[in-house]
Amino acid sequence: MTQTLLRGRLLSFVRAPRSLTDSESYRYETDGGLLMDKGLIVEIGPYSEVKAKAEAGVVEIDHRPHLIMPGFIDMHLHFPQMQVIASYAANLLEWLNTYTFPEECRFVESAHAQRIATHFYDELIRHGTTTAVAYCSVHKTSADAFFAEAMRRDMRMVGGKVMMDRNAPQGLLDTPRMGYDETREIIADWHGKGRNHVAITPRFAITSTPEQMEATQALAREFPDLHIQTHLSENHDEIKFTCELYPEAIDYTDIYARYGLLGDKTLFGHCIHLSEREADAMSEAGAIAVHCPTSNLFLGSGLFPLKALMRRDRPVRIGVATDIGGGSSYSMLRTMDEAYKIQQLLAERLNPLESYYLMTLGNALSLSLADHIGTLDKGTDADVVVLDAAATPAMALKMEVVKTLPEELFLLQTMGDDRAIVETYVAGAAAKGALR
Ligand code: GUN
Ligand code: ZN
Repeated sequence: MTQTLLRGRLLSFVRAPRSLTDSESYRYETDGGLLMDKGLIVEIGPYSEVKAKAEAGVVEIDHRPHLIMPGFIDMHLHFPQMQVIASYAANLLEWLNTYTFPEECRFVESAHAQRIATHFYDELIRHGTTTAVAYCSVHKTSADAFFAEAMRRDMRMVGGKVMMDRNAPQGLLDTPRMGYDETREIIADWHGKGRNHVAITPRFAITSTPEQMEATQALAREFPDLHIQTHLSENHDEIKFTCELYPEAIDYTDIYARYGLLGDKTLFGHCIHLSEREADAMSEAGAIAVHCPTSNLFLGSGLFPLKALMRRDRPVRIGVATDIGGGSSYSMLRTMDEAYKIQQLLAERLNPLESYYLMTLGNALSLSLADHIGTLDKGTDADVVVLDAAATPAMALKMEVVKTLPEELFLLQTMGDDRAIVETYVAGAAAKGALR
């Protein structure tokens, strides 16, 4: 297999930025070389130095003047909701019952699941996302299609069969036993195969009986290294209904805690309306609050206090995500633009360095996967995105007056979408180019 050498401006983070001028938080090579071999990054540095280390037959791709970054990571989205996106509903529960649950019922058919899986990965790649954390449907067929397609494309993906045994149509329900057994089967079939990671996935407390929560707890005990993903504190009616279903719990977060599901591998989608007690409990456990800004605005769920949660004495770990199909864009650039606007409404500032940190290294750390993804470090996966801040006429015009790297990043975030993605490399191979 030949080596590939990318040339361009290389940007990756080494830690969370503390301010807009915190140039110690990132590594930036203005004429950089990134050498990839057998799916990994094997050298990074000034182009001339990296070129000198490359093998004779190296394939060179010149991406100047574009920016080369670690591929984006999407921490929460729903694979069976590609045809739910853009559904007109008043709120979360109406949206779930009217559009989402009926649509997910279709994933019992493996031909349908396989067709949507192809579109799913095409769309991620088109938007520069190289790792995503996804909910499949309740059907094992959907998880099989999801992981088989990830393996075919050699992508590092996290996903799980949803467990849900009440408060949804019959075609979308399992039982505590089925949810447990099928999740075990999916772990045996897919976890660690290719670059796949299986996540234990109880949808949320509304759709799981206490018996299913116990089965989930058993899985979490048996497989302590696996991620757990669920939803928490998204919408006021949801919170009220959930607490009625679990009257013994002191609050929504406590329900998950009582079943041993509050830990440092747990990814909680939304977490918009947490009390101080809940935020303390999340912080203490090292659990992750996954912010889904386009979804929160689209469904009218609320304004996530991102900066407030980050700067607490007991800070809460954060992830960022699209939440397709409650979310309205596959683009992490569009996602961070909406995250920025939500902080504006809360009289907070989310600076562009923080945004790009969050969608790369920040999300990788929140997934405990920073040894593999989210950076351009030697030895990590060669999952890379190439960005063009002058991708459209309007962006090119604005670029004429852009002077600094943070200004360029902010322009990309504010005006960019899939048109700004020049190329997406997955395990060292050009994946977006291969779609055309
Ligand atoms: N809560 C439970 N299921 C879902 C879902 O599919 N989307 C969102 N946004 N919230 C949920
Ligand atoms: Zn979700």
